[in-house]
Amino acid sequence: MKNLEMPNNSINVFDLEAVAKTKLTTLAFDYYSSGACDEKTLSANMTAFQDIWLRPRMLVDVSNRNMTTTVLGQQISAPIMIAPAAFQCLAHAEGELATARAADKFGTTMVLSTLANYSIEEVREATAGNLWFQLYVYKDKGVTRSLIERAEKAGYTALVLTVDSPLLGRRERDVRNKFNLPAGLVCKNLIGNYLEQLPAGSNDSGLASYISSLYDTSLTWKDLTWFKSITKLPVIVKGILRGDDAARAIEYGADAIVVSNHGGRQLDTTIPTIQALPEVVEAVDNRVEVYMDGGIRRGTDILKAIAFGARAVLIGRPFLWGLAVAGQSGVLTVLEMLRSEFDLSMALSGCQSIGDITPDLIASENRK
Ligand code: FNR
Ligand code: LAC
Repeated sequence: MKNLEMPNNSINVFDLEAVAKTKLTTLAFDYYSSGACDEKTLSANMTAFQDIWLRPRMLVDVSNRNMTTTVLGQQISAPIMIAPAAFQCLAHAEGELATARAADKFGTTMVLSTLANYSIEEVREATAGNLWFQLYVYKDKGVTRSLIERAEKAGYTALVLTVDSPLLGRRERDVRNKFNLPAGLVCKNLIGNYLEQLPAGSNDSGLASYISSLYDTSLTWKDLTWFKSITKLPVIVKGILRGDDAARAIEYGADAIVVSNHGGRQLDTTIPTIQALPEVVEAVDNRVEVYMDGGIRRGTDILKAIAFGARAVLIGRPFLWGLAVAGQSGVLTVLEMLRSEFDLSMALSGCQSIGDITPDLIASENRK
């Protein structure tokens, strides 16, 4: 494997998580790392990958390997993108700006969260790389419309509509910590709408209170038609876990789908995403691109997701650990670690290019 510069001698994303834990406040580490309730889905996202066995092909010339692919027509250097994650200034003062610059250097797409600590425009100015904007839908349609217009105007190339969060999952660590943003940090995309602060003095997670009072819980498939009618951007639906929902998403105009359970942060005991992926891929039947996230920690996880039909994966917590440890260079290190592990797993399974990563690489008992 290529020798990477690894902060604090970390050689994998788990090492970086341990270093990040020493750098972050309990409030920030718990917010980033936690899942809903008993955190069953949080851990199952990872263990489900470990329960899948590979069938590598031997004596294939793997002296030249190509990991590049495209997402919605944009080339990326490896099938790894940056998932939307709120409040990145809890990890590092440069927050989303550092993440966006690292993604660009690596050659991939970053998805910026609605709940970012830097604004749509600031992040756009920080990098020339490809950016998508993740949308949370406020009850006030004017707010939603203005977020879409700003992303479009700034040159973001797709909207990612997250559909698994009409309310926030119950993250008990955040409830106990009465999670809130430290003084000075706000949701910068909402400034001017009096929506930039999480409510203080709540006996719950401040984020849970914010979302329950402001997000539109009445959202349905027909709203997807509304989004499509007010934007020229492709709309990617994030948070799908069933074949019938994937088919419905396409029917209502989705341009791509992200199989996701929000990293185990929403409904606990939800199916691990790598188990949900085959059903969605089958229902989609190549009509749109399918991406997945949740539990990607190793190069072999990426190989398995692609073998099951994902076009690319997104990573959440791993890049947040890199950001906490070393800002922009930490995020780049994480992306490079995963790309390097993925490259090695391609070589060892007899794959020269992404197209060689086919379902037969997976043991038959895991393909049912
Ligand atoms: C998230 N996620 C998320 N998703 C989203 O659509 N909008 C958001 O603002 C956030 N915020 C957020 C914050 C933090 C701290 C985490 C860990 C996650 C979910 C994220 O996009 C993704 O689905 C998961 O993180 C993927 O799982 P892994 O890679 O963290 O296991
Ligand atoms: C979270 C929300 C903001 O997972 O998506 O914390």
